[in-house]
Amino acid sequence: MCGIIGYTGNENPVSFLIKGLKQLEYRGYDSAGIAVFSDNGTHIVRAVGPVRNLEHKVSKLSLQGFSGIGHTRWATHGKVTEGNSHPHQAGRITLVHNGIIENYSELKEQIEQIGRTLKSETDTEVLAHLIDIEVEKGFLLLEAITRVIPKLRGSYAFVVSDPEDPRCLIGVSQGIPLWVGNSNGNMLLSSDSRGLSLFTNEGFVLKSAEIVQCRPGSFQVFDFSGHLTTKNISLTQLSNDSSELVGFEHYMMKEIYEQPLAVLNTKAKLIQSAQLYSLPFKLWDHVQLMGCGSARHAGLVAKHYFEQIVGVTATVDYASEFSDCFNHTQPSTLVILISQSGETADTLSALRAAKNRGLATLSITNRKQSSLSLESDFCLFTEAGCEISVASTKAFTSQVSLLLALAYEWSYQIERVESSFRPQLNPYLSALPEQIAQTLQRDKQIRFIAEKLLSSRSFFFLGRGVLFNVAQECALKLKEISYCFAEAYPAGELKHGPLALIDKDSTVILLTTRGSTGDSVSDPLTHLQQDKMKNTLQEVKSRGAFIWTWGADTPYFRQESHEFPPLPSSHRFTEPILHTVLGQLFAYHLAHLKGAEIDKPRNLAKSVTVE
Ligand code: G6P
Repeated sequence: MCGIIGYTGNENPVSFLIKGLKQLEYRGYDSAGIAVFSDNGTHIVRAVGPVRNLEHKVSKLSLQGFSGIGHTRWATHGKVTEGNSHPHQAGRITLVHNGIIENYSELKEQIEQIGRTLKSETDTEVLAHLIDIEVEKGFLLLEAITRVIPKLRGSYAFVVSDPEDPRCLIGVSQGIPLWVGNSNGNMLLSSDSRGLSLFTNEGFVLKSAEIVQCRPGSFQVFDFSGHLTTKNISLTQLSNDSSELVGFEHYMMKEIYEQPLAVLNTKAKLIQSAQLYSLPFKLWDHVQLMGCGSARHAGLVAKHYFEQIVGVTATVDYASEFSDCFNHTQPSTLVILISQSGETADTLSALRAAKNRGLATLSITNRKQSSLSLESDFCLFTEAGCEISVASTKAFTSQVSLLLALAYEWSYQIERVESSFRPQLNPYLSALPEQIAQTLQRDKQIRFIAEKLLSSRSFFFLGRGVLFNVAQECALKLKEISYCFAEAYPAGELKHGPLALIDKDSTVILLTTRGSTGDSVSDPLTHLQQDKMKNTLQEVKSRGAFIWTWGADTPYFRQESHEFPPLPSSHRFTEPILHTVLGQLFAYHLAHLKGAEIDKPRNLAKSVTVE
């Protein structure tokens, strides 16, 4: 949610700022802007739309300076306009900001009462005025900032400059990360390590409630009282994830194709993780899973794993609901927080609420050094690599495969004897990357079907059990990037209402189980599920809908469906991942055929750091 970058060094800041912003663009792309500081004052350039629009404007100017700051915006306070774009200026002060100043309306009133006029609708401009008021009184920038911080409520990170000292940049972190990097004496500040990675492979993240003051070749860290911190700061190796498209047209498709490797790496690292084997599984008999968007869907799938493999009860909540709701959580509850970025504000807030209730917390995240990983009691990492497309693909399947392996290990450690599937599960997990690769071979077929469905008015994804949860993820993917109406229902629920929406312009996608053995009818559960899906199929067929069946490889489904992409035979616990891959491919192709902006869907952002 918004990306910020800062540079002070011995070279022209412009190319550092633009390149850094491009790295951060996945965090928000409503508008972008930079400010460059020199002896001749401050020069600000801003443009609505993606960073390339800003780059185009900047290319016509010959900006020079000692330092600069930049921002890519996901609008929260104020419309998507140039006037609301960052950097914001008040008097001498120029700044870029990520997060929300929750009490900005009351602060705005106070500022207006002393005769100042705000030019934008943002909370950020309030912050610039508050700091400017203090520097006008004669305080140095650092002092001015420490005088303003106690007045602010919310989580935020910002980078600020004062033209009195144009080589100095000050960065502040309160609950939202801010990274610091050193590239041969060029000091950089960034919302995440990705923003630094083109310039340096070493950096560190500020702790919450810390301030960094950077000058070319040096930095100092202070607490919020302005005291220099004496702790040793160690520079960590930044991850060297490839951000090249390597021949793919979009990051989403590249990331869909990276799933076999992401799942393989996740399992390989997990089984070497000392943290996994040190988890005190015997203390817990209930699991509370939480996340947002696709991460919550991973939790919904994993609920089945914990209940069926481990034998504990499991509940799933929207992270945004947990802190407000009354929950029947008991001390023997393990709270599992799932988040690709590890920075989603709602998930962090759920983590803090769980900790306040004295519950054990385990986070599953893709980012080392993320707030979630640092604040939770235990942490396990997915190894999906950098995910750039806003619509999550490889992060989701890596989360599901990690949670499955976790459930498997848990059941093993508590010696749950009745798990008859245990001997079979591990080989299926090992076979999963290959099965995903086989599923990806359906790519062309899915595109061909998407072409046929371009004029379909609505899409209904129906499944039973865990496949209903996968249906939810597939519908979300389609909504996010194609802007089509898509909904998921438990197949049996269709007749209790949503059936009224089905007509000849509807597409119904039936997520059916193929069965664990490959011989689908020999397993009683598979048999039962398939029989019930046959009823659903007939209900929608008689209303004229286009019917598309995934999974069940039987003459009945082949004959009764308009389209039928078979899936490789797999275990019923790994099958959901294969269905997800089909859903991702379909969403991608439909969106692509409609000419939608795949990697940066309208109104969304990859990392949502506001509640
Ligand atoms: C945003 C993204 C989703 C993502 C969700 C949770 O809404 O658009 O794709 O699933 O955040 O993100 P997280 O980083 O916590 O997994």
